[in-house]
Amino acid sequence: MAERHEEDLDELVTERFAAQSLVRPDADAVERAAEAALRPRSLDEFVGQRVVRDQLSLVLQAARRRGRAPDHVLLSGPPGLGKTTLAMIIAAELGASLRVTSGPAIQHAGDLAAVLSSLEEGEVLFLDEIHRLARPAEELLYVAMEDFRVDVVVGKGAGASAIPLALPPFTVVGATTRAGLLPAPLRDRFGFTGHLDFYADDELERVLLRSAGLLDVPLTHQAAHEIASRSRGTPRIANRLLRRVRDWAEVRGDGSLDLAAARAALEVYEVDRRGLDRLDRSVLEALCRRFGGGPVGLTTLAVAVGEEPETVETVAEPFLVREGLVGRTPRGRVALPAAWAHLGLTPPSETGTLFA
Ligand SMILES: Nc1ncnc2c1ncn2[C@@H]1O[C@H](COP(=O)(O)OP(=O)(O)O)[C@@H](O)[C@H]1O
Ligand SMILES: [Mg+2]
Repeated sequence: MAERHEEDLDELVTERFAAQSLVRPDADAVERAAEAALRPRSLDEFVGQRVVRDQLSLVLQAARRRGRAPDHVLLSGPPGLGKTTLAMIIAAELGASLRVTSGPAIQHAGDLAAVLSSLEEGEVLFLDEIHRLARPAEELLYVAMEDFRVDVVVGKGAGASAIPLALPPFTVVGATTRAGLLPAPLRDRFGFTGHLDFYADDELERVLLRSAGLLDVPLTHQAAHEIASRSRGTPRIANRLLRRVRDWAEVRGDGSLDLAAARAALEVYEVDRRGLDRLDRSVLEALCRRFGGGPVGLTTLAVAVGEEPETVETVAEPFLVREGLVGRTPRGRVALPAAWAHLGLTPPSETGTLFA
């Protein structure tokens, strides 16, 4: 390990990610293109999230009746649950055009000022990953959202002055995976906040059947059920697994996407019946087999599975914790009873185990 060049390491990490990325909730550029075809275009087509959908539908209808731009909308929730899709639907339902940018894409406040000052009346500005906006841009945004004004700075240094520019009414749709990171003054400027939650399996089944229709592949209900149950409550993952099952069906099967095809395909891709992949399982195996269920520190655990601690913490752990398979204690990670059961192992006697 020590004599490896950094580039080699990078490559190694990328390879591992590539091999194990089937159940990661975020998307790369290639996948985003594939996703575009599957996006629902209206609130009626948007599956699940009944509460957010109802509330949003009211906000939009009221705005349409008044003939005015609706309040700014904040969408929060984990990756892959439909935030970008909803932003597009909001614009579509308003018959408005959509401008898209993101927190990380805005390097300087001036970049945001340029976007804002070019907005036309009624436009929807989608600000993805809004929690990653730099502070000066954030402050500019407060004023624009509240007073529909942007102060354009002309000149440099001591001679610089700010010329206020009035903006036409528009709507900001902000999306964030980390609502807690948004400063309160920014959060307060959104008239409506919708929180997206993980989907139930029957909702994912509907997502899958809809996608299969669009892709024109023969997916059976049983297969949809099987794929849904391994999709971690996330439509993006469901759609991705569907594409991989289609690959299998076309190459090794007879083209039909039935239960047998779904099971065989997901076995090839090492996505198990709970939606765990190889990394997830090796973390569980290490915890149970090598460390007797823990507690064990993150770094030690990461070394045991041959990964960076950050990978274990950000890629594998959130889902394992959410599923009640792994617990975090002040003394380290512990395997919970469901972890032993999932691996088909018997936990050591309760007295020997430390559950905090
Ligand atoms: N409620 C839903 N109904 C149908 N498809 C959905 C739904 N939510 C998300 N999807 C699909 O999942 C994929 C990821 O959604 P996206 O809006 O990009 O998620 P986010 O922006 O929250 O990461 C898209 O292809 C989208 O079509
Ligand atoms: Mg998105």
